[in-house]
Amino acid sequence: MASRLPDAWLDELRSRVEITDVVAEYVELKQKGRRFWGRCPFHGEKTPSFSVDSEAQMFYCFGCHKGGTVINFIMEIERMEFMEAVKLLADRAHMELPARVDDGRSDEQTRALRERIYEANLEAARFYHATIWTEEGAEALSYLHKRGLDDAGIRRFGLGSTAHGWDALTRHLTEQGFTFDELKQAGLASERDGRRYDMFRGRAMFPIINPQGRVLGFGGRIMGEGNPKYLNTSDTPVFNKRQGLYALNLAKKERGLKRLILVEGYMDVVSLRQQGVQGVVATLGTALTEEQARLIKRYAPEVWVCYDGDSAGQKAILRALDIFESQEMPAKVIDIPDDMDPDDYVKKNGAEGFEALRPMPPAEYRMLRAADGVDLTTQDGRTQYAIACCSILRRVSNPVELENYLKKLSVQTGFEREVLLKQIGTVAPAAEEKRTTRPVARWEKPETTPEHVKAEQLLINLIARGQIDRDLPLESAFVTPLYLRVARELSAGESPAAILERLEDSDREAAAQALMMDSQIERDQVARAVEECLEKIERYRKKTRIEEIKEQLKGEASPDRKTELLALLTQLMNEPGSARKP
Ligand code: UTP
Ligand code: MN
Repeated sequence: MASRLPDAWLDELRSRVEITDVVAEYVELKQKGRRFWGRCPFHGEKTPSFSVDSEAQMFYCFGCHKGGTVINFIMEIERMEFMEAVKLLADRAHMELPARVDDGRSDEQTRALRERIYEANLEAARFYHATIWTEEGAEALSYLHKRGLDDAGIRRFGLGSTAHGWDALTRHLTEQGFTFDELKQAGLASERDGRRYDMFRGRAMFPIINPQGRVLGFGGRIMGEGNPKYLNTSDTPVFNKRQGLYALNLAKKERGLKRLILVEGYMDVVSLRQQGVQGVVATLGTALTEEQARLIKRYAPEVWVCYDGDSAGQKAILRALDIFESQEMPAKVIDIPDDMDPDDYVKKNGAEGFEALRPMPPAEYRMLRAADGVDLTTQDGRTQYAIACCSILRRVSNPVELENYLKKLSVQTGFEREVLLKQIGTVAPAAEEKRTTRPVARWEKPETTPEHVKAEQLLINLIARGQIDRDLPLESAFVTPLYLRVARELSAGESPAAILERLEDSDREAAAQALMMDSQIERDQVARAVEECLEKIERYRKKTRIEEIKEQLKGEASPDRKTELLALLTQLMNEPGSARKP
């Protein structure tokens, strides 16, 4: 699989495509602790043993042991070669392949194509917008009016309508000199059985415009019932829905915003803004990504997450809070009451009603959700809730804020403040993860993995997590060649993902097993655990050495040699049990 791609480029690719998002397209994932779990797509199973770690950028199945990076995942599931998988992911991440391995297109040509796509998109946006004021756009116009938009709003957002027929836009743009290939690359047109047709038909159109004013693509709302409700431009050389945000072009003009409001949908943005709420943007039909969180950070000092009030929305809020936290972006939650969309709510209550909703700090929102489905009238329920809240409160660093939550929690659960504080202080994150993830012990067939290999795996795991502070004497610490190699590469500063990606099948599985094991060792226990590992490995080394010597003694060595071996053997057997030199 040796690729000629530069490591730095592969690192960039891996960090740009979020592995959980890619996997989620094939596997239903649920977050537990810092990992995501699902049913393994590579072997049949009823209970999930397939895990994805977004931070480490790896997946691993504790059942069938397949593991690797996002590239390995695509290779496996799409049955692709390494380079094919890389190309697919690079497309998605919007990255050009390094020149040498480019698919025949030079940088110059790529740049020219992108320019043509921008031009085609702009012309398409003009066409859709012009159409909405004609007979053919009457249905879209009245639909948008019905949804509370006036003509000024329609102009401001550049909304539009598709024209009648299968290929009105294709014909229009062809007349303007665009080639069919350009339209296809722009995601505006397609072809089947020799027939060319427009990608968007029978829809009200929302152009997606970047802060530089360029049209990247479109979202198209079907008028009335039908599927999909919104059709979005697929990823193109200029558009990647994981990286952009809707209405960022408008937010850019709003100087000095104190906060940005993040909503789920095009309609929510348009509707809130039409009512006079400023600084509203939306993701583009995907869950919030880290790139988007970083983008938002550039526009305001704080973000308020305002998703639909249904249960899907609530889950997405929790996930968004985690992402903002990971990007160190201050976030709060506007919790829309009664299962409503922000769109519905602002229409019913106006901008004042909306602005009156109080943004909640993350801990408060997480605690609210922790109470879902818990019966606080029982002691069990209150205990469970208190434990969950304490692990939430561990992340609150402001003492005054923490005190407020403690008081409230104490009243809610009947536990004294000191008890709660103790719970917050004593339950270390690792132990908490153990409780929230599925049964831990299933990760390996313990009887088949020898003790010393387990010890090597644990060492690898600790090195990869940066938990070992001192230099290990690698040559003597590792006996398994694969683990020695991995340890050396880790010590040389290579990322676990990069190391994993280069290994072939069974080696990769073994390395993934070590890197993804849930070692659950508290910080202050690490040094001891390392000592124990080294002792186990040393014992094994000694045992094999003794066996070797015994073998040689049975064989045809010279008398002198035999005396030598016997001396060695006696020495080895007489060393203290742990056999580690001080
Ligand atoms: P919603 O289904 O909540 O849309 O999806 P909405 O904004 O409430 O739509 P209306 O009010 O019924 O018109 C939220 C967002 O998820 C994406 C779109 O970006 C949408 O705005 N989505 C939804 C899709 O991309 N495709 C779909 O089929 C549905
Ligand atoms: Mn909605």
